[in-house]
Formats: sequence, structure tokens, C-alpha cells
Amino acid sequence: MKLSENISLAQYTTFKIGGKARFFCVVTSEDELVEAVEFAKLPKDSKTHSLPILVLGGGSNMLVSDAGFDGIVIKNEISGIKVEDKYIKDIGDDDLFVSAGAGESWDNLVEYSVRNGLYGIENLSAIPGTVGAAPVQNIGAYGAEAAQTISNVRALDTKMMKFVELSKEDCKFGYRDSIFKHERDLVTKQPRYIITVVSFKLVKNGVLKIDYKDVREYFDKKNITVPTLTDLRRSIIEIRTSKLPDWKEWGTAGSFFKNPSVTVVKFAELKDKYPDLPGFPEIGGETNSSDSSNTTGDMKVSLGWILDKVCDVRGLTVDTASGGKVGTYSSQALVIIARDGATAADVLDFSKELIRRVKDKTGIVIEAEVEWVC
Ligand code: EPU
Repeated sequence: MKLSENISLAQYTTFKIGGKARFFCVVTSEDELVEAVEFAKLPKDSKTHSLPILVLGGGSNMLVSDAGFDGIVIKNEISGIKVEDKYIKDIGDDDLFVSAGAGESWDNLVEYSVRNGLYGIENLSAIPGTVGAAPVQNIGAYGAEAAQTISNVRALDTKMMKFVELSKEDCKFGYRDSIFKHERDLVTKQPRYIITVVSFKLVKNGVLKIDYKDVREYFDKKNITVPTLTDLRRSIIEIRTSKLPDWKEWGTAGSFFKNPSVTVVKFAELKDKYPDLPGFPEIGGETNSSDSSNTTGDMKVSLGWILDKVCDVRGLTVDTASGGKVGTYSSQALVIIARDGATAADVLDFSKELIRRVKDKTGIVIEAEVEWVC
């Protein structure tokens, strides 16, 4: 494991913003990961006893503070995709387990699955980031979420310093949520689990999820009545390209906020005022999911719609104190874009302004989906 110091993190995040990491290393194997964590627990060339750890995948869902990260950044590049026969005895002829290293590109895994005729993650096509980040925030899009297919997560338990296999239940998945976001040592700021491999249960003859409004409209427009797995992947890629900014070109982390949950009573109140407001029973998953089982009793509302139609901020761009620009994307108000040298503080200020406006207009207190790293 090669350790570097004072490495700019802007180059490793899709926001392309942020200060330096005090220590930085890339790990490509579980042994190297152990070495990196051991260093964090007892850094040889440091007076501190232990260092906070930040695990970096594709850096596509974080905003790094301008002051940087005073700890060790571990860039997880443990790669590889393989069909797993480890759990084969538990499954029927139609299912297959596919495992991928945490550092593998998420979309490589989706492309691999679709190419091999395996159903389950095609709706999650073209999401930036790595496989290891998928369980952390339970990525979701177009009526599907990672938790629906994840069977097991292998991780280094940094407290016990041993590798563990966590079941789907152990991961406690929710809407953009899992234990990996919460299990952290409060003193050392080290995450309890660092994911190394994620296993998915995929299906050979599955059913396509094509109920999401954008997807239905896409196939109607193209006159495709019986779409294939490949058609669905292509449709998702085209929809995403038309609605979301290309992170290679823009400084962004996709949706900046989570879609909020409100009580049914609050939802009825909002509907009175805004009859077109989209809302769906919360299922601990996608906002527009067609899965109606396992509802929480609350309603999820589309914050993109509120920011656009109620707060009128879709496409709003402001000049910042630092001379840069920050704004919401012209086709999707939930997405914040930073450019022309805007700083992390600028993005944070702008996000606070959006939080304030939503609160003033609707009474809803919204939360960031993007992780703030400092
Ligand atoms: N809408 C507007 N104006 C906007 C944005 C949205 O009117 O500026 C409306 C849409 O027309 C639609 C509703 O709001 O009726 C919901 O919008 P959309 O389908 O785009 O989905 P979303 O809830 O805003 C979520 C995810 C996205 C994911 C899409 C598609 C979250 C926080 N975001 O957005 O994920 O791609 O669904 O499934 O759950 C991400 O996490 O980075 C991300 C982009």
C-alpha cells in the first residue's frame, strides 16, 4: 500500500471541489485494506493516536469541505466481477449470484448483467460511482433500488479487525440509507464496516420494471410494446442523459437532497394547495416505486417538483462570493451544479438557501442526500 500526503480531493469527486486529504492511499486488495486501517489506528509517522477514515469510491455523492479531510482517505479499488457459486444450493434454477469488488464501476456491473441476460439491476443503469457505494446509500432510480437484489455484503469490521459477511437484513436498508451510513466510532470517526465485495441475486428470466412514468413514456413514444432487457438499459441511459447533467462535464453529485417524507395529513394539506404535487406511499425505497408492499404509512413527496413548481428555482444560478457560480440544473431542480471555481462553502450556502425556501413555502425540513466531508 502506497501512502501519500496532502493530496487534493477535488480530482477524486464529481463535484470537483474540496481541500486536501492529510493521508491518501489506494487499496486494491483486502490485505492492503487491512494495512491501511492498521495505519489509521496507529499511524507510525503521526503524533495522533488514530486517524479518521474516509472511504472513497467514485466520489459521486460527496461534497468535500474546502479545508479538506484531516485523516486518511482510502480509495477502494478492489475490483472484479464473477458469477458466484457460494450460495448456489439456496437458489432455484432461475437465479444466479454475481459478486463484484467494491471498487468496480457500478455501471460495468450493470452492463455485465444485462449482457449476460441477468435481470435485477438494469433500472440502475448509468449511475456514477462504484459497487461498494451502492449498499451504503442504497442507490435507487426508475422504480428500483439496490437493496432489492443485494444478497450479501462482505466487509472489514474495523472494530474486530476481521472480515464479516453481512446479510441483507443486517444491512438495514432504507430509502438512500443503510447501517453503513450510521455505524461509525464517534471518537475516532472511523467507519465500523468497510465494504470489499457485494453479492447480488439476479434472475435469468425476470420481469422488467417499466412502470416508472419516464420509462413508460419513453417506450410509448418509441412504439416499443415488448421491451427487452437491453431496450430497458438503453431507455434508462437515454432518460438519464436527457434529465441529468453529465458529471464529466459539470461539477455535481446528482440529487443533492433526499425526497422528504410527510404524514398523510400533511400530504393532504399540501395537495389542497398544490393539486399536482407528486407523492407516493413510502416503502423505504424509490419515490415512484410500483412496489406497494411494506409501506411505512407516510408519503414521499417529489422535492424536484416542489423546488421547480412551488419555489421556482429550477435553473436558478447565483454568483458566489468566491467568483464562481452555483445553481440548480435546468432539467432537474433536485440537482445542484457548481462551476467557475465555486467552493464547497458556496455550495453549502446555496443548499441552505434552498432548505430555507422549501421550509418557508411548505413547512417541510429537507435533508441533504450528498455526504458532507470535513
Ligand atoms: N419534477 C419537476 N421538476 C423538476 C424535477 C422533477 O417537476 O425540476 C417532477 C418530475 O416531473 C416527476 C417528479 O418531480 O413528476 C419526480 O422527478 P424524477 O422522476 O426526476 O425523480 P426524483 O424523485 O426527482 C429520484 C432520484 C434520482 C433518480 C430519479 C429517477 C432521489 C433523491 N433522487 O429523483 O436519483 O435518478 O428519482 O428515478 O431519490 C441521485 O440520487 O443522484 C439521482 C439522480
